[in-house]
Amino acid sequence: MNIFTALPDLAELAHQRLDPAVWAFLSGGAADERTLRANTQAWQDLPLWPRVLRPLSGGHTRVALAGRELAHPILLAPVALQRLLHPEGEWASALAAAAQGAGFILSTQTSVPMQRVAQAVLGDAGRGPLWFQLYWQADRGFNQALVQQAESAGFEAIVLTVDAPVQGVRDAERRAGFAPPAGIHAVHLRDSPAPPTTAGTYCAGLPAHAPTWDDVAWLQAATRLPVWLKGVLHPLDARQAQALGVAGLIVSNHGGRTLDTAPATASVLPRVRAAVGDQLPLIVDGGIRRGTDVLKALALGANAVLVGRPLMWALAAGGALGVAQALRLLRDELEAAMALTGCRTLADAGPELVTAPAYHRE
Ligand code: FNR
Ligand code: LAC
Repeated sequence: MNIFTALPDLAELAHQRLDPAVWAFLSGGAADERTLRANTQAWQDLPLWPRVLRPLSGGHTRVALAGRELAHPILLAPVALQRLLHPEGEWASALAAAAQGAGFILSTQTSVPMQRVAQAVLGDAGRGPLWFQLYWQADRGFNQALVQQAESAGFEAIVLTVDAPVQGVRDAERRAGFAPPAGIHAVHLRDSPAPPTTAGTYCAGLPAHAPTWDDVAWLQAATRLPVWLKGVLHPLDARQAQALGVAGLIVSNHGGRTLDTAPATASVLPRVRAAVGDQLPLIVDGGIRRGTDVLKALALGANAVLVGRPLMWALAAGGALGVAQALRLLRDELEAAMALTGCRTLADAGPELVTAPAYHRE
């Protein structure tokens, strides 16, 4: 694999290797890609205030999440069909995550069976959490069966994605003529009775089967695992989810792949944190490319972050090793950012890190 010094470098390496249509699927967003761009831009635009001469010895990146202590707050976002990017697909990315102590969320649309992924990582004592992402399927019985499979395979939480009742208007992908090649498909959905969507009929397709708040309550009753919601942006939705007793929320706009012009997650996160109070666990994703971005997310009230595309560029460029190296780099950058802002631990990262100090002489 070619050398890379930072996650953004991986985009070019992956671009060179991937078929142009797969590249468009992976890296593109919805419509004019305003939200896709705004996500990265918003983290970059937040100034981070350095602090000097603070004691840093004994510092670490550990955080508490879902009743566990994690080595660091970085998890892999659920990404569909990873065998498009590397022959070992989700097996390789999950293995890399475990080796680096990072949590891993497996997509409903995994191209490697969930049992194989779980077997590869469950025995690793240093691994992070292993969660299963659920795309609601038209038939409740099918959802029940999927969730039961995830439970018996050893997954530790269900993440219901709620921001994609229809696929976004993905122009880049359509221009490039993306279609998964024969032999790479969502292995657990082969028998799902979901109706196929037809071009031009968004409202006639999936929405009739899209989940509602009632289905969230049904899902909570149908599984013994904690249920998270992924894709919540509006503070009122966050409050409603909290009232249902969800385990936590993933503040996400699906990496700019669903509703274009939805706000950047960096601007939404503080509002959601204010709406739900201190206790509800929040994870944020979208545009996180640097250790400084991770630190800003924690400063604004997230307990952890998900990273999507950059780790998939790493998978395309270098398989499991590439993903592991990219995770290590991001964590190193986080440690540097902590030291330079005077944070010994992530508990020291509060909103003042990104807020211009108002100082008045007495
Ligand atoms: C995704 N995402 C996603 N989310 C989900 O809940 N289930 C899924 O199957 C997928 N599939 C998927 C495929 C591809 C190619 C991408 C790029 C993204 C969204 C993903 O989990 C995450 O929210 C975003 O990728 C985060 O933004 P960044 O880190 O890619 O900027
Ligand atoms: C995507 C779907 C699979 O973003 O979530 O491509």
